[in-house]
Amino acid sequence: MKRVLSGIRATGRLHLGNYLGAVKGFLELAKNSEDETFYMVADLHSITTPYDKDLLKQSVRDVIMDYLACGLDPKKSTLFIQSQVPEHVELAYFFSSVMTVARMQDLPTFKEKVRQHPENVTMALLNYPVLMAADILVYKAHLVPVGIDQEPHLEVARVIARKMNDGYGLDFPEPKRFATEGEYIPSLTGEGKMSKSVEGSYINLTDDLDTIKSKLAKAPTDSGKGDEVPTQGGVAAILKFVELFQGKEKRAEYEKNYVGDGIRYGELKEQLAQAIFDELKPIQEKRKELEANPEYIDQVIKEGAEKARKAASETLNEVKKAMGLQYD
Ligand code: TRP
Repeated sequence: MKRVLSGIRATGRLHLGNYLGAVKGFLELAKNSEDETFYMVADLHSITTPYDKDLLKQSVRDVIMDYLACGLDPKKSTLFIQSQVPEHVELAYFFSSVMTVARMQDLPTFKEKVRQHPENVTMALLNYPVLMAADILVYKAHLVPVGIDQEPHLEVARVIARKMNDGYGLDFPEPKRFATEGEYIPSLTGEGKMSKSVEGSYINLTDDLDTIKSKLAKAPTDSGKGDEVPTQGGVAAILKFVELFQGKEKRAEYEKNYVGDGIRYGELKEQLAQAIFDELKPIQEKRKELEANPEYIDQVIKEGAEKARKAASETLNEVKKAMGLQYD
């Protein structure tokens, strides 16, 4: 049976970017494929940049609850916390023996983090992609639903798989990215991607209709007409949201207006806010039910860790044996 793995770093509640870019892909594969699906909260990756240790536990639980609220079913998918499956770290150590420091320092994602946190360029940060490769390959997953920004990390996982296979006769698959429609979610500010760390850039899954309206109201626009529909900036971002929540046809309609009589952004934003809220409302309701049932969350976490460990330990036994580290 083929496997899928993915994860999200625990940085508090999920926002719309995580939902569209990642969780929708998780759901699609859980519902529509024969594959066994593993979805984790990457708490070990959360500590590769400065974090608040008193908030971590709640952030991790929040992500698990958001997974469930978005419709992931623990009977179908294994939902777990990364650090509760120590095999990931163990495998990452073995993997680190086939990757060079130079190659890791060269990754664009690493360089970006160095720019953001020049005081915190730790070994854990350098090792981030190696741990991610272990997350994936410890389940021998062949598909990984993640955003396009994670492609360099997947490439590292493929390189490691090849090196381990060639060097030690193992049979790791070369994992591919499973792209979702919302693989790149722009920021509401019109610059870069939607991110928790940029104020005014994101919509939370918990936002009510008024909050969504006021966030959309602040998104920058233009006069509403011109010779060419913008492909960057606030207008492009808004049209992307129209496409994702109201469909491609609606987007095409607005694009026609843009080069014709013009778009009335007030109306557009009003309708878009409603469409976004309609999708979020059932998630918010489910989430409230889950909050009232902490024992159930505990149970999902416990069972997830057990299932994941069972699968992960098999791979680790193979790897240790192949690498000459088995003594009984
Ligand atoms: N690096 C991923 C991100 O920031 C999170 C992550 C950690 C992940 N381990 C993973 C994603 C394994 C997919 C598979 O989004």
